[in-house]
Amino acid sequence: MNQPVYKRVLLKLSGEALMGERSFGLDYRIVNNIAAEIREVVQLGTQLGVVVGAGNILRGGEAHAQGMERTSADYMGMLGTVINSLALQSALEKIGVETRVQTAIEMKAIAEPYIQRKAIRHLEKGRVVIFAAGTGNPFFTTDTAASLRAMEIKADVIMKATKVDGVYDRDPVRNSDANKFNSISYTDVLTRDLKVMDGTAISLCRDNSLLIVVFNMHQSGNIKKVVCGHPIGTKVGN
Ligand code: GTP
Repeated sequence: MNQPVYKRVLLKLSGEALMGERSFGLDYRIVNNIAAEIREVVQLGTQLGVVVGAGNILRGGEAHAQGMERTSADYMGMLGTVINSLALQSALEKIGVETRVQTAIEMKAIAEPYIQRKAIRHLEKGRVVIFAAGTGNPFFTTDTAASLRAMEIKADVIMKATKVDGVYDRDPVRNSDANKFNSISYTDVLTRDLKVMDGTAISLCRDNSLLIVVFNMHQSGNIKKVVCGHPIGTKVGN
C-alpha cells in the first residue's frame, strides 16, 4: 500500500491548517511539515494541485458580519490565500519541489495568472500547482475553488484536509458519541447539512461525480496514506 492509487489529486488545505496553535497567521514549522508531506507524494509520481484557504488571515464571512461590505471582505480573503500560497511555495521550493503559483485574479508581478491548460502542463511536468485567490469571485468559498480547479485539471479526487478524522453525524469536537462515516453520498451530506464543504462545492462535485476524501491533517503521513488508498477518513461519492 505504498503506491499511489490516484494519478492526479487536488489537495484542499484550510488556512487554519497553516496556523498550528497560533491564533493568527502562519506557523512556519507547520508549513514546512506540510511541504515535506507533499514532497513525499510528488516523489511517488502523483500530480498535485493545491488550493489553500485564508482562515488564518481573514475570513470574508466574518469580516462581512462585522460590517465590511461583502464583496470587499471576500476580496480581502482572496488576497489572504495568495499570502498562504506564497508561503507554501517557498517551503516546497526550499526542499526541492518544483512549484508554480497561479492566481485567479491577475497580479503578474507576484505569480502567473490562472490558465487551465498551463496548469495541466505544469502538473504533467511534475510541478505542484498552487491555485491562489480562490475562484477570483466574491460569494464563493475556497472549497468551491477547490472543486472548480479539481474539475478543470481533471483530478481523480479532492483531498479535503480537516481537523478531525473524517465526516461525522454530529460535531465530534462537541459530541464524544458522534459516529464517523467511512463513506457517504453527496446527497446525504447536503440533506443532513454535514458541513463537509459548503453546498456549492458539494453540488459541483456531485454533478461531476468527483470523489472527495475528507481526512485529518493533524496526523503526519496522512496525505500519503490517502494518496496510497489507505482506508482512512471518509469518502464522499455517489
Ligand atoms: P514551461 O513553459 O512548461 O517550461 O513552464 P514555465 O512555467 O517554466 O515557463 P515560463 O517561462 O512561463 O515561466 C518561468 C517562470 O516564470 C516560472 O517560475 C513561472 O511561475 C514564472 N511566470 C510565468 N508567468 C508569470 C507571470 O505572469 N507572472 C509572474 N510573476 N511569474 C510568471
